[in-house]
Amino acid sequence: MNKVLLIGSGGREHAIGDALKKSGAKIYAVMPHKNPGIAKLSEDYVVGPLSIAFIRNLDWVKFKRVDMAVVGPEDPLIEGVADMLEGKGIPVVGPRKNAAIIEGSKEFMRDLMKRHGIDGFVDYYVFDSPQKVEEFLKDYDKPFVIKPVGVTGGKGVQVMGDHFSTKEEGIKYAKRVIEEKIGGVGRVIIEEKMIGEEYTLQVFADGKNLRGMPLVQDFKRAYEGDRGPNTGGMGSYSMENHLLPFVDKEEYARSIKILEDIIAAMRKEGREYKGIMYGQFMLTPEGPKIIEINCRFGDPEAMNVLPILKTNFLDIAWSIVDGKIIPVEFEHRATVVKYVVPEGYGTAPLANQMIKVNEERIKREGALLFYASVDERENVIYTTRSRSLAVVGIADTLNSAENIAERALKHVSGKIYMRHDIGKREMIEAKIRKMRKLKSQ
Ligand code: AMP
Ligand code: GLY
Repeated sequence: MNKVLLIGSGGREHAIGDALKKSGAKIYAVMPHKNPGIAKLSEDYVVGPLSIAFIRNLDWVKFKRVDMAVVGPEDPLIEGVADMLEGKGIPVVGPRKNAAIIEGSKEFMRDLMKRHGIDGFVDYYVFDSPQKVEEFLKDYDKPFVIKPVGVTGGKGVQVMGDHFSTKEEGIKYAKRVIEEKIGGVGRVIIEEKMIGEEYTLQVFADGKNLRGMPLVQDFKRAYEGDRGPNTGGMGSYSMENHLLPFVDKEEYARSIKILEDIIAAMRKEGREYKGIMYGQFMLTPEGPKIIEINCRFGDPEAMNVLPILKTNFLDIAWSIVDGKIIPVEFEHRATVVKYVVPEGYGTAPLANQMIKVNEERIKREGALLFYASVDERENVIYTTRSRSLAVVGIADTLNSAENIAERALKHVSGKIYMRHDIGKREMIEAKIRKMRKLKSQ
């Protein structure tokens, strides 16, 4: 019972594959492009799209040659890949379509929290007519955020003060979201702008109960000092005590409670949630608030938590699908992930450029290497338009973990870019000061 279908080809899926393999699994991978790391871990792999139509026709699925599936990215889950696989008798770590909607529709997520009076709630308003959104915003006098209701990979969200400054610019963008159906549906959410520090809490969920993972802080902006366009995430860190320098135990417990309440609310509504739930939180002076919920591991956040998982990952996976989640333990170590991306990533990424990766030297520095969106042809690695690979430093302190990651980066070369500030002391101290100031106001 250890043959696992692994769906996806990013850094996150390389880390999932690594954890599965270490726990005794045999991996059969399907990926849209050949990730050399996953290819190496797998008994067999197929390069192809992650559509239900394609996955349904894989021999491993048709003839039930795998015992279980683990789904990395959100799109197949939102489309209903778990329903299809379960229909063929293959249990899945990842929610069915009626539960993956928690990520698929930000409107559903906000409405669910409102219906059940769940803590961590923010004011929001949904519109499908350009006139109505204009009328509403004209009289709205707080700073606001504009979000397409559908999925845009974090790139469709615009925040007042960051992406636009005047109300008029905001109205213009909100109307565009409706008119051009940005995110796939002609609906827009206007949210009150929250001020604070963001963090990620990922949990394993068996439909009823959950087990929390260490907190992670992810850096979405392309350039150092948190400037530039939003990206999928340039890197992330976690601390040896599983908290963050600006999030305490009580705030962690409150965040867990919010996700527990969401899972319980979904269960009440017949939407059993089995898999990984990812909470993107904002710590505000009033406490933790939900920014969004994702139905999968974070990328890069999976690379922070999975390498320090002490419990056998395959055992956790079975306990999720069986609805009886086991206790989960992580090492008390700090981690720093730094992504290497093609030059121009965030605006005009340089694809098809050769990158040199000295795997041996990276290993000797004591760092881990996870491949993401690269193409491998005749043993040469090329960039695509997305993030290329990540290095991970793991140590007893954040400072040492950051040093290890930095040293590892020296063994990657080409037309590439990376953020050196992630996990550095100065930037952590700035975050602590910012949160202290906000709380004292
Ligand atoms: P999302 O795609 O919902 O994760 O949003 C992308 C980014 O927009 C988040 O990581 C936040 O930095 C920002 N954001 C989203 N919603 C809000 C909000 N209500 N208040 C402040 N910032 C927000
Ligand atoms: N790191 C952001 C995400 O995975 O959604």
